[in-house]
Amino acid sequence: MEQNKPELAKKAIDLIEHIAGTHPGYRRAHAKGIYCEAVFTPNGHASPYTTAAHLQKEKVKAIVRFSDSSPNPNMVDMFSPVKGMSVQFQLPDGKAANLVGVTVPVFITKTPEAFVEILSVMEKKPGPRDLLRMFIQYPESRAAFRIIKNTRPFISYSTSRYYPIHTFYFVNEAGEKQPVKYEWEPDDTWNCAAKREAAVHPADYLEAELTRRFLKGPIDFNLTVILGEESDPVDDSTAAWPKERQKITIGHLSIMRKLDYMEENIVFDPTVVPQGIMCTDDPVLRFRSEAYAVSFERRLKGQ
Ligand code: HEM
Repeated sequence: MEQNKPELAKKAIDLIEHIAGTHPGYRRAHAKGIYCEAVFTPNGHASPYTTAAHLQKEKVKAIVRFSDSSPNPNMVDMFSPVKGMSVQFQLPDGKAANLVGVTVPVFITKTPEAFVEILSVMEKKPGPRDLLRMFIQYPESRAAFRIIKNTRPFISYSTSRYYPIHTFYFVNEAGEKQPVKYEWEPDDTWNCAAKREAAVHPADYLEAELTRRFLKGPIDFNLTVILGEESDPVDDSTAAWPKERQKITIGHLSIMRKLDYMEENIVFDPTVVPQGIMCTDDPVLRFRSEAYAVSFERRLKGQ
């Protein structure tokens, strides 16, 4: 079992603040965001694999937060290439289950220690040689950086796939564990504007676009899971699974409207999962819980 790393979590958040500035009251990552109201309808296809209440047949309400990955809430939308979609399912017993995705399918490091090392390099405003040294030291980070570099600005939060990245275990009534990786697949056609076109958009164009998009009706996503096999790594968030793995659709999310006001006391801690789902020992997944708690504590105090 992965050990708690409270000092490392504080160090990570301190480094993010040194790099991106401190923005009192805001999340230390994904600072700019929009809350929405949604309903999730499971189709029962997950039932053989998990007893999780929200993945059976009954609809549940959900809160969704779309976000820009930058720790700076004033970041121009097009300059922040990774977007987030956080979903909090509201379970029948009053508890919550979180599923936190981004537009990139793999993370940049296997461990929180390596992530903090990379932040330390970034803090020193690295030149090309420092960056090259970093890529040699952490070759596993190349896949994520390559995808980020090739990402073009989005025209809408509604048109991307979102990947919760980490592996989770589904656990069924017999106690059998099935490793899964989730993906949100949009109903809206995938689309992205050319950089040239995006350059003329205002700083917060994604929020304005969302308002316009809701005039046409709800924004819909299918929730799918890829079923892992024995040889697939379950605790390495830099590793994708082979493409031929079976993928099943387990439900449908309908996002109805923007919430104009939302108390900022939600933490989308990705380790908050209900009975019938278990976290793997992926050290990055475990560490996120601690890092998000540090960020939450600071933003709640208005720091
Ligand atoms: C070492 C790894 C990571 C660190 C230190 C980190 C740090 C953070 C922090 C500090 C926040 C703000 C938390 C809050 O105040 O509520 C945050 C939010 C977020 N992170 Fe991470 N993160 C990590 C990995 C990841 C990964 C792998 C993903 C991919 C799924 C991800 C996706 C997000 C998203 C979507 C949000 C916004 C959540 C919201 O809407 O409130 N993060 N992250």
